[in-house]
Amino acid sequence: MKASERSDTLVLFGATGDLARKKLYPALYHLVAEGKLDLPVIGVAAAGWDDAKLRTYAADAIHAGVEQPDPAAVEKVTSSLTLVDGDYRDPATFQHLADVLHEHGTEHPLHYLAIPPSLFETVVQGMCAVGLDKGARVVIEKPFGRDLASAKELNQVLHQVFGEQAIFRIDHYLGKEPIENLMVFRFANSLLEPVWNRRYIARVEVTMAESFGVEGRGSFYEKVGAIRDVVQNHLFQVLANLAMEPPAGTDSESVRDEKVKVIKAMKPLAAGDVVRGQFRGYRDEKGVSPGSTVETYAAVRLAINSWRWQGVPFYLRAGKCLPVTCTEVIVRFHRPPPVYEASSPPPNNLRFRISPDIAIGLGVMVKAPGERMAGNPVELRVSRSDDPNAMEAYER
Ligand code: BG6
Repeated sequence: MKASERSDTLVLFGATGDLARKKLYPALYHLVAEGKLDLPVIGVAAAGWDDAKLRTYAADAIHAGVEQPDPAAVEKVTSSLTLVDGDYRDPATFQHLADVLHEHGTEHPLHYLAIPPSLFETVVQGMCAVGLDKGARVVIEKPFGRDLASAKELNQVLHQVFGEQAIFRIDHYLGKEPIENLMVFRFANSLLEPVWNRRYIARVEVTMAESFGVEGRGSFYEKVGAIRDVVQNHLFQVLANLAMEPPAGTDSESVRDEKVKVIKAMKPLAAGDVVRGQFRGYRDEKGVSPGSTVETYAAVRLAINSWRWQGVPFYLRAGKCLPVTCTEVIVRFHRPPPVYEASSPPPNNLRFRISPDIAIGLGVMVKAPGERMAGNPVELRVSRSDDPNAMEAYER
């Protein structure tokens, strides 16, 4: 299938699930409300529901995720929904789906797999058995396998059916405005480049703190843990955006090539580079084993052996049930010598707030008012926004 050919139906596997409710229906709403999407949506799930129940579910999800949605646009999204109810292990489910797509005159379905990773293979094979791979694209949510072997196996399964151009491996962090901004800020400002290296930068800290727990996703989380859930994907993408060389172009291949170089230059983690923790009460969650050792908190220290970054530690940490919800990057520069202070003044830093609000700030010292020749820390605000209408990651 040609890249220029538009998908004409969205097939949403996991239509009654958590991701669909929290993120996908609100995103579909925005796209429809802004006139960017006009497609039938076929939900697939084993829920024992009918079309009406799915439509109510989607409408509720939109009302929960969007402030004052336009009723006409909600109606447009929900009326475009049809449900194919059935087990993914049953070939009849896929035959039913094929019949429904045929009725819609679909030629280029976009299969969105918002389902647990353990089902990817079953679903891809089920589609293929009834020819639903023809002219189709597939979107897969992370985590992509559990380890190298399972990631390779999943790739093989996908490639037996789909060409690489038809496979979209999604990390929604890449759709976030402030994550895209990391690259624009780095590569569209020439004043940064001379200092963006080991000579001037002492360390980089990336924190993704969430004040909530696993929110009913215990059985998913139990197979994944913090490192697979958010570190090796979301936070590695943040790190790659911070550490990569300028790409040859803005196309995805060029960007990916530079990110791969960063990852290749990383030293494998040693045991002393990792701290894992678990919040109290995790073992009482539904779907979690009473003796679980799965981490809900992880902190890792990474080293990138390149000319730019040799000797600069990158600290990534993420966890659930922490005191606040906040994702932030702090790039700390080397400490200046103590000219104006008895003790050494704090180092400059560049702060990228990714959520809940969006900001970029440069931490610098200015003279403290008064007699003394001493410094006060202040922050130069480069940008700041908490615009609720900014584009959501899943919408992008
Ligand atoms: C998801 C993880 O990928 O990202 C969740 O599975 C996490 O555990 C979520 O809470 C955070 O993303 P966002 O965009 O909601 O901050």
